Amino acid sequence: MPKSTVATKRETTTQRSTARTEEADAIALLKADHRQVEGWFEEFAKARAGNRKQELANQICAALKVHTTIEEEIFYPAFYEATEEEELYQEAQVEHDGAKHLIDKIEGSGPDDELFDARVKVLSEMIKHHVKEEEKRDGMFAKARQSDLDLDALGQQLASRKAELQGTSRPKLIDKLTRA
Ligand SMILES: [Fe+2]
Ligand SMILES: [Fe+2]
Repeated sequence: MPKSTVATKRETTTQRSTARTEEADAIALLKADHRQVEGWFEEFAKARAGNRKQELANQICAALKVHTTIEEEIFYPAFYEATEEEELYQEAQVEHDGAKHLIDKIEGSGPDDELFDARVKVLSEMIKHHVKEEEKRDGMFAKARQSDLDLDALGQQLASRKAELQGTSRPKLIDKLTRA
């Protein structure tokens, strides 16, 4: 598969050129994303100032967009291929669709909008449910661990794509350094 080839090349480049800051396997990486967003949701619930709420909502929406994208592009298809767990795979995607709709609404409004807080609260509840589904016993992550998926290689792929989506693409950065 072309994706695996890319991951292997990037892995080699990573080992040579940068500090090994992203050694997490796929599940550790995705769980760390979950914990980060949960923390921001908690801060949002306590925040009073409009600009702080805006800042947190921006962080939450940006992080969730990156997270759902790397899951949908890389982790979910690999999971489905390895396990043939169609129901889990489909339900996860539908839950992402629901979250994305609300993320669009939040990004299109602001703290002055009377529904802003309610939207962020409902998004936090949707995400809480979704994360529980992914992390529970017999959930997607547990089944991925039981499968023969190479979670380290998948973690590398996720980390590379995440960096790319965050606009700090490691391969591009390395290109630049090599040319300089
Ligand atoms: Fe997730
Ligand atoms: Fe997910």
